[in-house]
Amino acid sequence: MADSPTPTCIRNPDVKYTQIFINNEWVNSVSGRTFPTMNPATSEKIIDVQEGDKADVNAAVAAAKAAFELNSPWRQMDASKRGLLLFRLADLVERDIAYIASLETLDNGKPFHSAVNDVLFSIKVFRYFAGWADKNHGKTIPVDGSYFCYTRHEPVGICGQIIPWNYPFVMLTWKIAPAVALGNVCVVKPAEQTPLTALYACSLIKEAGFPPGVVNMVPGYGPTAGAALSSHPDVNKVAFTGSTEVGQIIMQAAGASNLKRTTLELGGKSPNVIFQDADIDKAVEYAVNGAMSNMGQCCVAGSRTFVHEDIYDEFVRRCVEKVSKRTVGDPWEKNDNGPQIDEEQLKKVLSLIDKGKTEGAKLECGGGRIGDKGYFVQPTVFSNVQDHMTIAKEEIFGPVQSLFKFKTMEEVLRRANDTTYGLAAAVFTNDINTAMTFTQGVKAGSVWVNCYEVVNAQSPFGGFKMSGLGRELGEYGLQQYTEIKNVVVKIPVKNS
Ligand code: NAI
Ligand code: MG
Repeated sequence: MADSPTPTCIRNPDVKYTQIFINNEWVNSVSGRTFPTMNPATSEKIIDVQEGDKADVNAAVAAAKAAFELNSPWRQMDASKRGLLLFRLADLVERDIAYIASLETLDNGKPFHSAVNDVLFSIKVFRYFAGWADKNHGKTIPVDGSYFCYTRHEPVGICGQIIPWNYPFVMLTWKIAPAVALGNVCVVKPAEQTPLTALYACSLIKEAGFPPGVVNMVPGYGPTAGAALSSHPDVNKVAFTGSTEVGQIIMQAAGASNLKRTTLELGGKSPNVIFQDADIDKAVEYAVNGAMSNMGQCCVAGSRTFVHEDIYDEFVRRCVEKVSKRTVGDPWEKNDNGPQIDEEQLKKVLSLIDKGKTEGAKLECGGGRIGDKGYFVQPTVFSNVQDHMTIAKEEIFGPVQSLFKFKTMEEVLRRANDTTYGLAAAVFTNDINTAMTFTQGVKAGSVWVNCYEVVNAQSPFGGFKMSGLGRELGEYGLQQYTEIKNVVVKIPVKNS
């Protein structure tokens, strides 16, 4: 399995599933409504999908609830068997990688080679958490008195999981793999822009042999289906990836309804700091990819590149050279960038680029839309960006690199931290003291030294400050799907 051949794209993949998935069955929406999912590369409709709303969420939650009853097949299943089901699911995803990646390219617009990488990452996440299924165990604790005290690590219960459109399949796996590994049940709402790969995953979940009701999926819009899920009184936990604004709404709904356990993975404005002693070639490459990968639609995008004044002009020149060579176009071809996800995001990116220009940043290259079919944006570089400008503060979520100039460590640390976000950060230097001072001082959940956007199944991911709550992936990710029960048993003592 290790050396599977590189998958070949299927240009017009058949869409097999467009319904709501409850109890391992496909059903239509209660309202009878559907919504279109669009191809971002052509602005054309791909297909209509059943539009879930409150009534459908209620039905999905009821199915999940039944699957979570103490005597259900799922609750009675050995933990090791849950792991085996996840390993089987990973094998099925691997079997269908060409199809899943093609469906992702069709629905999301990302270049096919990126979609393949996404699916490969997802397979690793399934296998990583499969291994944890029978290893998330409690402790015995030497409490005072004559007692046997132990903890049980139990599932939290019904998990509502709300998925974004930038990494539709990957984000689905990050959410469901740890949840089901540890015996939880899920009701998932994929993003309205990109429901297709998530729905296909449901067919594989059924094929792998998961009992009915363990994973349910309700495609639909945020303020309707998403809100119903995050405010449902029977849902015990909500996990969300998306905008900080919606994260705040979800946390309020979760609190007001029933104090759901909440994990949030939100926006960022991540600083990438290049010192004068860095390997410049490598730093340019990472800085450009860090800002542009996935068309900049990446929560950890290195959207603030701080460059030491001694190398600033040279660094700008090299970034512009590199960015100008990026190819943008048909995602089925080997292009660096495809389209932005939809018209709304296209408009947001273009209006922020305009703000950059009017507020006085220097547009070095790019800056406009490409064509009028699909949502393609020219890879864009701004130099002379100042901290007070809108493009220095707001998440752009587009292929835009902003270059700032700095002089000292103290200054750049202060400026790097001067944001409401705290998702990721990076530093490029060959000096161990510079690297350690920066990694200790920066407020971010992920810090990279001489690299960027290295995210693995085995290590935690999440944000400081308004970038979120909790951690996904790695051993730390288990906490979000575990309730801890402390049990105390009286031991009768002779002679007492
Ligand atoms: P969004 O936060 O509205 O969408 C993400 C998910 O939340 C979708 O599934 C959506 O249906 C759902 N949602 C929306 N409103 C909801 C509500 N009231 N209750 C429950 N669920 C709800 O993000 P949107 O509008 O698509 O993009 C806006 C900006 O958010 C982007 O430009 C980007 O800056 C940021 N974003 C960040 C992401 C990340 O990876 N951290 C992913 C997507 C967007
Ligand atoms: Mg929104």
